[in-house]
Amino acid sequence: MSTNKKKPVRIALLGCGTVGGGVLRLLRDNQAHLAAQVGAPLEVAHVLVRNPDRVRVPECEPGWVTTDASKVLDDPTVDLVAEVIGGEQPALSYIEQAVDAGKSVVSANKMLLARHGASLLARASKAGVDLAFEASVGGGIPVIRTLRDSLTSDWVSSVHALLNGTCNYILTRMRNEGKVFDEILADAQRLGYAEAEPSLDVDGHDATQKLVVLSMLAFGAEVDDRQVHVEGIRAIDDVDFRFAERFGFALKHLAIGVERDAALELRVHPALIPGSSPLAGVNGVLNGVFVHGRALGPCLLVGQGAGEKPTAVSVVSDIVDVARARVAGVGGLSTGAIRTTPKALVPMDDVECRYYLRFDVVDQPGVLAAIAGALGRHGVSVEHMVQEARSDNGGSASILMITHTSREGAVQRALREVSGHEFMKAAARLIRIEDT
Ligand code: NDP
Ligand code: HSE
Repeated sequence: MSTNKKKPVRIALLGCGTVGGGVLRLLRDNQAHLAAQVGAPLEVAHVLVRNPDRVRVPECEPGWVTTDASKVLDDPTVDLVAEVIGGEQPALSYIEQAVDAGKSVVSANKMLLARHGASLLARASKAGVDLAFEASVGGGIPVIRTLRDSLTSDWVSSVHALLNGTCNYILTRMRNEGKVFDEILADAQRLGYAEAEPSLDVDGHDATQKLVVLSMLAFGAEVDDRQVHVEGIRAIDDVDFRFAERFGFALKHLAIGVERDAALELRVHPALIPGSSPLAGVNGVLNGVFVHGRALGPCLLVGQGAGEKPTAVSVVSDIVDVARARVAGVGGLSTGAIRTTPKALVPMDDVECRYYLRFDVVDQPGVLAAIAGALGRHGVSVEHMVQEARSDNGGSASILMITHTSREGAVQRALREVSGHEFMKAAARLIRIEDT
């Protein structure tokens, strides 16, 4: 029987904003190609939105649009639900209803996957349906499939990744153009990169949720994203880019996952990486995921981390996979193979790395000795040191130090000791150095 004569796979799209609009475009543009891959045509049945009066992409037929969730979720002719609403609720209850009704689900929602991924996977597995989420991490980069399918034969030992396109875009333009943060963030919002609530991006929570999703597949770990150490990029100063380069580093917003015996080290924060690192040249809205496998060694994935088209590519390729599995009668097979268990996190005080420290101080005798003394008392040893007069603040200087590998707890205690001195003009700046 020809593909077109087969019963269509009927899709309900939940949300039709940046990503949803891209999904409809791709379903229309690549219609015949997708049907050939699935073995049946793909047919949109409903598009659920919040505001029925908003102007949609031309590929969105007015007859599809509804604000009535039960009309969509209770429709027995719908085979597959693609959720691109975002946020925790009502997306969670919509997905649960869809799964319980035997519909397969595709989602781009990292917040939901980070908070409820393990229970949703178990629920989908029990119902014999698939839950696919390629677009939830890395936009258009096929990182979920790589970890879920291609690396099943190995153990992942570490992941170092640039997971937030908005942060990478802002840091790249701050460095290259010296533009101010707010101006660049407004551009990222206009281009459809930022979340509806952009503090999720710039304060590091989006990258944290993505790291937790990756950890489910890379380490088989169930982790609460609220337990992961997170710092955003608001405190980054122009001078840090300049000093980073002077020491041979690039300044990035990094998500890190490392296997440490039975526990996991997970953290998200700005970091200095060597200028020679493969991640150092990953700029703009690009994301990069640098995985080390015990047998595989290094493996780098780079691509568009956000935006309508790349994200739609991931959502639609999930739709194809899930639809193909239904047509072949093997729905739920790949979802059921994902195994996760709760894992403990290494406390932040026990993390060890090198540190970049910047002290903006009154330029007077005894200051350097006081800082070096505090570090020394806590066992933190200095590898490099530079002092530079600050042109923006008469009589003051920046003291930059790179430490040898030290324990986070010791460095933090030394900084607390220094913070009590009157010569400190601002809080000391700490950026971790990752030799990735
Ligand atoms: P948008 O804000 O552009 O779109 C959200 C859509 O969901 C809108 O169509 C909105 O309706 C609809 N919606 C919101 N709340 C409800 C509700 N309660 N009931 C029904 N519909 C609702 O978001 P994006 O398209 O940018 O993001 C969607 C998802 O994809 C998020 O999980 C995001 O994290 C993820 N993602 C986004 C990427 C990007 O580059 N933008 C990249 C990778 C993942 P209306 O139009 O009527 O307001
Ligand atoms: N806001 C997210 C980002 C979208 O900037 O990376 C992609 O998940």
